[in-house]
Amino acid sequence: MKAPCKALPARRRCPRRRAPAAVLIAIGIFLAVAPALPALGSGERTGPRRLEIFSWWTAGGEAEGLAALFDIYRAKFPTVFMINATVAGGAGSNAKTELATRMQGGNPPDSFQVHAGHELIDTWVVAGKMEPITFIFRANGWLEKFPRSLIDIISWKGEIYSVPLDIHRSNVLWYNTALFAAHHLSPPRTLPEFLDVCSALAAKGITPIALGDNGIWTSLHLLESVLVGTLGPEKYKGLWTGATRWDSPEIRNALATFARLLRYVNSDHAALSWDGAVQYVIDGKCAMTIMGDWAEGYFKARGQTPNKEFGWVPSPGTAGTFVMLSDSFGLPRGAPDREAAVQWLTLAASREGQDAFNPKKGSIPSRTDCDRSLYDQYQQSAMDSYRSEIIVPSVTHGAAAAEGWLAAIQDVMSTFVCDLNTDKAAVDLAAISAKYVKASR
Ligand code: GAL
Repeated sequence: MKAPCKALPARRRCPRRRAPAAVLIAIGIFLAVAPALPALGSGERTGPRRLEIFSWWTAGGEAEGLAALFDIYRAKFPTVFMINATVAGGAGSNAKTELATRMQGGNPPDSFQVHAGHELIDTWVVAGKMEPITFIFRANGWLEKFPRSLIDIISWKGEIYSVPLDIHRSNVLWYNTALFAAHHLSPPRTLPEFLDVCSALAAKGITPIALGDNGIWTSLHLLESVLVGTLGPEKYKGLWTGATRWDSPEIRNALATFARLLRYVNSDHAALSWDGAVQYVIDGKCAMTIMGDWAEGYFKARGQTPNKEFGWVPSPGTAGTFVMLSDSFGLPRGAPDREAAVQWLTLAASREGQDAFNPKKGSIPSRTDCDRSLYDQYQQSAMDSYRSEIIVPSVTHGAAAAEGWLAAIQDVMSTFVCDLNTDKAAVDLAAISAKYVKASR
């Protein structure tokens, strides 16, 4: 990779003076050729234009969605060289560390993937690392085109700080339709049914649940669904405000259910990634998996069709609740090519961009005016759910809690998946909650 060009300092404003004739002629010549010159100013390049987009989208579905967006950008701005700076690892498990190093070192990409909510605001905005981008929404008349509740979680002190490219649902159970049909099973709707179906499948020699927790986040993802399924939406939301105690009998119950579910997962789970787990469902090695609807993008990228080879239901016990997260892109202060970054963000916020990306990604558009006919059956059902159900934030994907809190929960999970000690986990989670709830007051 070539070393980035040094950004030029912003042009200074000069006091007004009468311009002598020679200067006016020079300005005239400059204005005549100016359109052919590269733009100057802070964060604007003079050499070849480059746009570096940082994300963790490398798996099937997510990579295709990103590529579709890149294609549109390239067609619109053919002179800008695009750099697809991806760091593999679901949920940003590796990318976030690398991003932090780059941001601390004053070497930001032009724009980066960041979850809407606490991850964006607490990690980057409050720390003064991002530029407000309300102007993009205002200039295009798009302030009314996004759900107010989503704008709220990407805003701070009256300014918007990122463009939400998608909305994902985290609480979905995906299943292999042929396996379920062959064994006369219905997808489970409640947690007791879930355990019953697991037991029935296991009795027939089929591994019930595919899990790929080579990154601990997928275990937390599963627990998140079990927590919502056990507590219901209001008490789950209370976990993030201090209104719901983490050491209550209900939490211990959820942890115990999670521990029972672990008996039914593939034995090589610790070596597998989330997409590897979805592949197990496709291959019929496992019957079902709980994963966010980027899994839907993966099924499709592997040539599968919703309601044919794979089916879905809300994670057991969570019908009527939409556990949401949103991938967004922001404008880091000191972006090497600010102009190209703004063009990227404008594309990401546009109907055209969202309707190119989301059908492949498995997500729904965050804009409310996109073309529904471009989305498949699953996605149309997710659109309806988002509109009518109770929305709660995903903790695994940056919406519910600050990254420090999330990291501390993940540490507890790393121990819990080994010792399955529900009492210890509940007590540890309660202690962490006390610290972070206090800090946020
Ligand atoms: C989530 C992200 C999704 C998808 C998933 C797996 O955190 O929001 O867009 O990429 O990780 O990598």
